[in-house]
Amino acid sequence: MPKDAKHVSWGGRFSAQPDALMQVFGESVSFDKRLASYDLKGSLGHAAMLAHVGLLSTEELKEIEKGILELQEEIYKDDFPWKLELEDVHMNLEQALREKTKAADKLHTGRSRNDQVATDMRLFFKDACSNLQLSLEGAMQALLSIAEKYATLSIPGYTHLQRAQPVTVGHHMLAHIEALGRDHERFSVVAKHANACPLGSGAIAGSTLPLDREYIAKVLGFVDHEGNACLTANGMDAVADRDLFLEFASACSITAIHLSRLSEDLIIWNSSEFDFVSLPDSFTTGSSLMPQKKNPDCYELVRGKTGRIVGNLTNLLVAVKGLPLTYNRDLQEDKPPVFDCYDQLSLCLSVVKGCMEETVFKEEKCELAASDPLLLATDLADFLVSKGLPFRQAHHAVGQLVGLADSKGISLTEISNEEASGISEFLTGEWREVFDLKRAFSMREKPGMPGPRQISTRIDHWKSVLSD
Ligand code: ARG
Repeated sequence: MPKDAKHVSWGGRFSAQPDALMQVFGESVSFDKRLASYDLKGSLGHAAMLAHVGLLSTEELKEIEKGILELQEEIYKDDFPWKLELEDVHMNLEQALREKTKAADKLHTGRSRNDQVATDMRLFFKDACSNLQLSLEGAMQALLSIAEKYATLSIPGYTHLQRAQPVTVGHHMLAHIEALGRDHERFSVVAKHANACPLGSGAIAGSTLPLDREYIAKVLGFVDHEGNACLTANGMDAVADRDLFLEFASACSITAIHLSRLSEDLIIWNSSEFDFVSLPDSFTTGSSLMPQKKNPDCYELVRGKTGRIVGNLTNLLVAVKGLPLTYNRDLQEDKPPVFDCYDQLSLCLSVVKGCMEETVFKEEKCELAASDPLLLATDLADFLVSKGLPFRQAHHAVGQLVGLADSKGISLTEISNEEASGISEFLTGEWREVFDLKRAFSMREKPGMPGPRQISTRIDHWKSVLSD
């Protein structure tokens, strides 16, 4: 390797090359090489624009295009000699192009690595958002199958991890689907924010050359629904801000948190104490010591990786918080947490889908747990309200009834009519009918409630959304 720094594109004013330690410390090619396809796409667009405004001849454009196609091929075949000493993906590709054509010396005209990397990342975010949306749809589809299969299977719903009120597996699974549906929308918003072309911002202050920003934005697909070019509005903002990174990592974190809470439900339901579900062998593992164990590792790992994803968001927030405008080299560190968010969340979504597809509910166990009359204590208070008792008094009366059953060690339904009417004059006759679960669900037919018609309406809604 040469002693001076002429091998790097910024080497003109340097008489010594970076220390070996500095090369290792400063390189980003080990992780930003995954931007290669976006970088080449951006360069093709930039070259087309330069030719369009007369800064490249047709011949030079052709040579650059030919060279870039060859580079794409080499990268596709994993046959590209990435060089650490060339720092990053941009300089590796530019240098390699230079070896193919002298016209490459004109490619960086009116462009800085600052707007170049901002463009690459915006192209990455657009793809990442739509890929994550596809993965989300897969996971939602698997949850929807469970919701449909067990639409009316009753289980206890919990607050404070205490049995609260009966719900159905349909209702519970739809709760998770609604949350993931909002995540899906959130990625559309992030993709919309990514849809603005930074090229033409240069380092911070644009260029004196006659660049055509609209032209390149259109070539690269930064357009609105009517095909109008979408451009970043301020050159300093375009190269310095990382709110898009934060939004993306935040959308990933929120989705991961939703998956983590879903996982926690499954982990609890899979415990011997609950025993509501049977998880597939293919997504669980055994213990090296205890032969009887079958551990819910897939969901535990989703929970664990959620910590990692949220950590990535924190990493970005802290990295950016103290930076003066505009570009600072700290910003090179913005990519690993973003890539990790994307990779880990994609994996989590696929694993949840795979495991859900083979999860079986233990129907008898679920129904037994949901048949506890205490779960309908609130319905009994509602019953008293319908007889004319103010809710607070109704709540108190049912509370007394529960206390009585508890002190006698019997179930609510075993309390005699005499004892019940002693607590409230309205606790006569048909009060026991309240404990019929079917009745309880059929009385919950307003939007958002677990009544069977509500559940099937919402299942149909999501089926049509997901089949679009
Ligand atoms: N590898 C750099 C990064 O990702 C590219 C931008 C370099 N810009 C600069 N002014 N040194 O941040």
